[in-house]
Amino acid sequence: MTDRPTPVVRVSNLRKTYHGTTALDGVDLDVAEGEVVVILGPSGSGKSTLVRCIDQLEEIDGGAIYLDDELLGFAHRHGALRPLTDEQVARQRRRMGMVFQQFNLFPHWTVLRNITDAAVAVHGMSRQDAKARAETLLQKVGLPDKAGAYPRQLSGGQQQRVAIARAVATRPRVLLFDEPTSALDPELVDEVLNVIKDLARTGLTMIVVTHEMEFARQVADRCVFMVGGKVVEQNITEEFFERPQTERLQRFLTRFTQSQSVNRERQLVREAQ
Ligand SMILES: Nc1ncnc2c1ncn2[C@@H]1O[C@H](COP(=O)(O)OP(=O)(O)OP(=O)(O)O)[C@@H](O)[C@H]1O
Ligand SMILES: [Mg+2]
Repeated sequence: MTDRPTPVVRVSNLRKTYHGTTALDGVDLDVAEGEVVVILGPSGSGKSTLVRCIDQLEEIDGGAIYLDDELLGFAHRHGALRPLTDEQVARQRRRMGMVFQQFNLFPHWTVLRNITDAAVAVHGMSRQDAKARAETLLQKVGLPDKAGAYPRQLSGGQQQRVAIARAVATRPRVLLFDEPTSALDPELVDEVLNVIKDLARTGLTMIVVTHEMEFARQVADRCVFMVGGKVVEQNITEEFFERPQTERLQRFLTRFTQSQSVNRERQLVREAQ
């Protein structure tokens, strides 16, 4: 038997229902150290629910999630599984970073405070170290002169780049993204995707939900296709796009290629006018 390293994230037979609606119907997923996994699928297929469950924002109804082999949300006690206390869950969540569609920055805090607060208040980093790290990160996300700005003074793309810097500031074991660019105006999407691409190259373990297929192709080591709360197909990225195995994924990819060529045509028409 080969000695495979422990995955950073392991999802096993995960189930989640909302008032009788099945959102996740037995999902298995392993994410290795440094791996970038992109989750694709039609609307309502359970992508957000999956990353929200991993980040412990939802109570799960069955199965298990592990971070570095540690069971999340529950502990074995007296021969049974018991939910952890809120404080214990909060401690586990600190080892993950999450970037939401809507940025979720604190509007009354400066960019610097948004990035450093958790590092100082929760992770016990000195204010000075946190500030130095925030400055490095602001440089990395292309906003070196925005430390003193407030979120309302920034564009959506800039706010999202700050949110990414905040998520990375605490050195998470895994970074989760739920459609990080879908709330942005089209011209701001690329600047955020480029920051995520740069991060991916640093070896950070990432799980990214996105509808940006070209980006998925460029950034992902592996793509996972979900439909109806199940993983229907997954593969290393090139195989996933070049040789889809299921009819469902073939249709999904074809629709995307068609809409892309329509967009290209529209652009050519615009340019010709
Ligand atoms: N808070 C909720 N209450 C009730 N039902 C929910 C809730 N959140 C999600 N669902 C349902 O669970 C299923 C999966 O939803 P989810 O948001 O995970 O899909 P998604 O793949 O992220 O879709 P999208 O691409 O539109 O973001 C859907 O049927 C959805 O209606
Ligand atoms: Mg979603």
